[in-house]
Amino acid sequence: MPNSLRLTAALACLSVALVMSPPAMADIALNNTVSGEPLNLDDAPPEGKDSAAFKEFMQSGKNPYVGKQDCFAKGEELFNGACSGCHGHLAEGKIGPGLNDDYWTYPQNATDKGMFETIFGGASGQMGPMYNSVNVQEMLLAMAWVRHLYIGDPEKAEWLEADARKTLKKYDNTPAPKPGADAPQECKMGG
Ligand code: HEC
Repeated sequence: MPNSLRLTAALACLSVALVMSPPAMADIALNNTVSGEPLNLDDAPPEGKDSAAFKEFMQSGKNPYVGKQDCFAKGEELFNGACSGCHGHLAEGKIGPGLNDDYWTYPQNATDKGMFETIFGGASGQMGPMYNSVNVQEMLLAMAWVRHLYIGDPEKAEWLEADARKTLKKYDNTPAPKPGADAPQECKMGG
């Protein structure tokens, strides 16, 4: 094939590929819980940003770890390391407010997007941005544990679909199960 023809063929393939590829879904917009200013993800170290879970969250605004039994123990470990000193081991509240009931200072914390915004960007007083303690993927894991600790009104569990609210069980102090052999890598303990 002459070179010019080859180029034409290549360009034709390329344009077909460009037309056929679905438009990239835009990432959700994240804003500071208190000021409403846009959050800058570049403030956080790169770890976890390439994870499937974080990418999914940035597209859907939903935390894929919520309800994932295999990831509870890891979420608990992260929560106990970075949050429980202020919020209490059961998220019952200490110097920071309780996170296990259905009262929120900032109502958007009843959504995954809202709680991520608070953890990433902080709120007021002692609640500073947490990205130097936990990476963005670890934030999602810790959030899933916080949701698991919930003892509030199931109907107010806004982060769940209406169906899932109906079957939601309040936290009953059952220890988090050990991650199974097929748990996602990031949920394996000590790794
Ligand atoms: C140094 C103490 C401290 C640490 C560590 C801390 N928090 Fe907080 N947190 C607070 C305080 C104080 C507030 C109340 C801030 C406000 O009202 O503006 C708060 C508020 C919050 C809220 C909003 C609650 C509401 O009612 O709207 C959430 C959600 C939250 N924290 C989650 C976390 C998570 C998850 C972690 C760990 C990754 C964490 N915090 C770590 C002190 C802390």
